[in-house]
Amino acid sequence: MKATFAILGCGKVGVTLAWHLVNIGLAPAGFASRRSASAHAAAETAGGGRVCREAGEATKDADIVFITTPDDVIQSVAEGLAGRKGVKRGAVVLHCSGVLPSTILADLRRCGAHIGSLHPLQSFAAPTFPANPFQGIVMAGEGDDAALALGREIASGFQAVFLPIETAHKTLYHAAAVVASNYLVTLMAAATRMLEGCGIASEDTLKVLLPLVRGTLNNIENRGVAAALTGPIARGDLDTVEAHCRKIGEALPDMLPFYQLLGQYTLPLAKAGGGVDTATLRALEEVLTKT
Ligand SMILES: NC(=O)c1ccc[n+]([C@@H]2O[C@H](COP(=O)([O-])OP(=O)(O)OC[C@H]3O[C@@H](n4cnc5c(N)ncnc54)[C@H](OP(=O)(O)O)[C@@H]3O)[C@@H](O)[C@H]2O)c1
Repeated sequence: MKATFAILGCGKVGVTLAWHLVNIGLAPAGFASRRSASAHAAAETAGGGRVCREAGEATKDADIVFITTPDDVIQSVAEGLAGRKGVKRGAVVLHCSGVLPSTILADLRRCGAHIGSLHPLQSFAAPTFPANPFQGIVMAGEGDDAALALGREIASGFQAVFLPIETAHKTLYHAAAVVASNYLVTLMAAATRMLEGCGIASEDTLKVLLPLVRGTLNNIENRGVAAALTGPIARGDLDTVEAHCRKIGEALPDMLPFYQLLGQYTLPLAKAGGGVDTATLRALEEVLTKT
């Protein structure tokens, strides 16, 4: 018999999981969400499964339960389920938070369930199917043995790479993901503002920036992070960096500390590259720390 799954919290990740779990051969058992419209949409995406008002009704027969609510309510949803004995003995309950430990689900062990977390290291801006957003990504898992085994199996079915992670390391792991993904968006927003400041229409800024960003990502992939650094700091072009700081200070003064701080974190990469002498590095540091 096919393993069955239930989803609590039918948003971007919940709906994406529902489609791809069905795609790898699991059967939808039930869906519940804050709004019943979201649960209905998830069931429609999965091609079946009960739509329930009560979380415990959606999960009571499922072999696998995903709690894909916002992080802040995962624990209370799990406690509510445990209170109503909403999961069956031997079921595996997983949440998808990158930062929270699986132990926030601990109450469910009272029902005989196994608990874990399985975090897809991907940015889901919308439910994503039939394209496979899991292909080649890391899915980091921790928790009970049965949860780890299941996480490994699901990751493999999704063509993702399962990464066992120490619970204590999750916060730093997640912070790294925020820097690489969310702050990349912040960087693009900053660069966009600067381009708009020199008269480029806002609808054109991405056309200008994206080929540059893609080229940089290619260099990082092919040459490694440190060797991918180009530009005035890597060359030791002090006059250019000074000119940038002067102009940003005049045109967009709130962005000067942003430019300077990132520059400060770029200096060690330039130093490691070996192309800039010590005196120039010191002078660059002065410009990049000047208030
Ligand atoms: N988005 C990402 O890029 C990403 C990546 C990796 C991991 N994650 C993790 O995946 C989980 C879900 O994130 P998401 O981005 O999918 O969030 P989301 O799109 O906001 O979806 C969360 C869903 O949970 C429902 N919900 C809210 N409170 C609820 C409650 N008390 N009971 C039941 N359902 C409730 C919401 O309500 P409605 O019923 O009103 O729609 C919403 O559809 C989080 O743990 C997050 O950390 C997200």
